[in-house]
Amino acid sequence: MSIAVIESPSDVVRALLAGRGAVPVRAAGQAFAPANIALCKYWGKRQARLNLPRTSSLSMSLGSLGSEVRLCRAEGRTDTVMLNGAPLAADSAFVTRLRDYLDLFRPTPDWAFAVTARNTVPTAAGFASSASGFAALVLALDDYFGWALPRRDLSILARLGSGSACRSVYDGFVEWHAGVASDGMDSWAEPVAAIWPDLRMALLVVSAAEKGTSSRIAMQRTVETSPLYAGWPRQVEEDLAAIKSALVARDLEALGAVVERNALAMHATMMAARPPVLYWLPQSVALMRRVWDLRAHGLPVFFTMDAGPNVKVLYAAPDEAAVLGAFSDLTVIRPEPGAA
Ligand code: PMV
Repeated sequence: MSIAVIESPSDVVRALLAGRGAVPVRAAGQAFAPANIALCKYWGKRQARLNLPRTSSLSMSLGSLGSEVRLCRAEGRTDTVMLNGAPLAADSAFVTRLRDYLDLFRPTPDWAFAVTARNTVPTAAGFASSASGFAALVLALDDYFGWALPRRDLSILARLGSGSACRSVYDGFVEWHAGVASDGMDSWAEPVAAIWPDLRMALLVVSAAEKGTSSRIAMQRTVETSPLYAGWPRQVEEDLAAIKSALVARDLEALGAVVERNALAMHATMMAARPPVLYWLPQSVALMRRVWDLRAHGLPVFFTMDAGPNVKVLYAAPDEAAVLGAFSDLTVIRPEPGAA
C-alpha cells in the first residue's frame, strides 16, 4: 500500500475528507465563528502554502463578535459573495482569495457557491475578521455537506484559509500548537483548560479602514529581513508558558504584563523589517500611553495590538465602570459566553 504524501492544501483536504460525502445534506449550510485576539501572537510562518507557523500562539475568542456564514450552491457557474448585505466584486482581492479556498471543496469543477457573510467586527481592521470568516466558512461547509468532522480537523481546514482562523473554531481561550510535521497535520488549535468569567477585553477602534499591508506580507517580510526576528521564537516560548499559568491562576497583573510585552515585541520585529512595517497611528500610541498612565494611577488595565492600528484593552469586570469612564467609544467583550 502506498502512503500518500501531503504537500498541498488539496492533499490535506483529500486526507481529512476521505470517505466523507460530496453531496449536500441540506439546502444551505450555516455557521457562526467568533473573532479571536491573540494574547501570545502568531507572527511568521515556517511554510507558507499550508500556513504553518514558526511558533505556537494563544488567543481569546470574542463571544458574539465574529462572522456568520451561510452558503449553498449558486445558480450560475461563478461564486457569488455578499458581505454585510452588499455583493462583493468578483475580481476583488478578498473574493479571489475566497474562490481559491472554495476550489478545495467543490464537488465538481463547475460547482459554484453562493456565500452570504455578515461580520459583527470591522472588516480587515486588525480585528481578525478573516479568522472568524474562514472558521465560519469551514463550519458552514461541514454543516452543508454533513461531514461531522472532529473540531481538530475543522481547525486544520480553517488554518488553510488563514492561519489564525484555526483558533476561531472554539470559544474561550485557545492554543494553536505550531507542530513540527511538514504536512501540518499536527498544527491545530484546541481550548485551554482555563475559565475566567471576569476577564474583559475592550476594543478601541482607531481606524476601521482596510490595512495597507496584509499580515501575510508583513510577516513574510519580517521573517526574511528583520534582524530582530531571531529572538522571537524564544520569547514566544517564555510568554506562552507565563500566559497559561496566569490564565489558570486568574492573575491579571501577571497576564497583562506578558500580553503587553508580547505584542510590543511582535511590533518591534516588524518595525525592524526592510522596508519597515508600522501599523501604529499617532492615536494608537496615545492610547498605549493612556493605558500606562491609568495603570500608574492604580487601575489594572493592559493593552495588546494586532496587525493594525487598533488597541485592545484587558481588564477585570469590577473595574468596568472606571475603564468605561477612561475611554470613549469602547466595545466590551466577554470571552466566556454566558459565564459573566
Ligand atoms: O492569520 P493571519 O494571517 O491573519 O495573521 C494573524 C496575525 C496577528 O493577528 C497579528 C497575530 C495573531 O496571532 O492573531
